[in-house]
Amino acid sequence: MPSPTRPEISRCRKMVEESLLRFLERDVCSMPEVLREAVEYSLTAGGKRIRPVVLLLAGGAVGGNEEELLPFACAVEYVHTYSLIHDDLPSMDDDDFRRGKPSSHKAFGEATAILAGDALLTEAFRVMGESPLAAKEPGKALAAVAALARAAGAEGMVGGQQMDLSAEGTGGRGHEKEEIDLRKTSALLSASARMGGILGGGSAVQVEALARYGRALGLLFQATDDILDETGSFEEMGKGVAKDRARGKLTFPAAFGMEAALARAEALCGEALSALSHFGDEGGHLRDMVRVVASRRS
Ligand code: IPE
Ligand code: IPE
Ligand code: MG
Ligand code: MG
Ligand code: MG
Repeated sequence: MPSPTRPEISRCRKMVEESLLRFLERDVCSMPEVLREAVEYSLTAGGKRIRPVVLLLAGGAVGGNEEELLPFACAVEYVHTYSLIHDDLPSMDDDDFRRGKPSSHKAFGEATAILAGDALLTEAFRVMGESPLAAKEPGKALAAVAALARAAGAEGMVGGQQMDLSAEGTGGRGHEKEEIDLRKTSALLSASARMGGILGGGSAVQVEALARYGRALGLLFQATDDILDETGSFEEMGKGVAKDRARGKLTFPAAFGMEAALARAEALCGEALSALSHFGDEGGHLRDMVRVVASRRS
């Protein structure tokens, strides 16, 4: 999509790509070779890096220093990658492909896949705790860590994953769907934006606006994921498609039909953009991200 500021998203993505393995290098974190292989396999398989980029853009929008934000951005991507590894397990969504490659449990076996997820989740918190910003501004770092823990934990993503699995095959609708998505997907995106705001030194009003933006962006993200499961291709998505209906997943198109799902996505774009009304030009890249997510094919 032509946009004057899209290069900023690519630049942030590149920064994240270049740093993801840095905080896990052998001299910083010694781990058994098979575990390292599994962790690196999933991290380097080429995700879109939406969440860490949102963190960097949110931090940038309030004047933050991106070098200082980078360990936190990588931590968010570690948590996300762990969630995908576990989401694909036979006992969960039972998916054989992820990021264009066999899922972790297919490549390394279930036990190592579980441990690779556990490792990524835990190392995320180590990386934030050992960051230069945590030493310089412990109060801000602690608030960001708490935001991530709340979003990823039982109230957020983990709780949402439980609800998603419990809803399978039940034909549940409406209100339940929104609550599942708020927890399983939106919580982490909202935390990413919130963390950028906190760490970048934003005011309380700015931080709350960023969190509202991330909340809507997260709901939009899961709505497009549900839509693309029906309209996308394996080549573009890098994961199996047309699986949700087969498993009886509670998705937008299944619950409301495709037209309503597309209308919902459109409304969520508006919500995300209106949350940014506090921001002028400095919110431009975050606005661009809304369009990127809305029009994504992968
Ligand atoms: C997939 O997330 C899981 C959902 C929350 C829908 P992404 O589509 O961001 O996955 P990657 O990181 O690009 O592989
Ligand atoms: C995954 O949702 C959400 C999390 C991993 C927390 P999905 O199960 O729809 O994600 P995909 O479609 O497998 O990527
Ligand atoms: Mg799932
Ligand atoms: Mg899944
Ligand atoms: Mg999905």
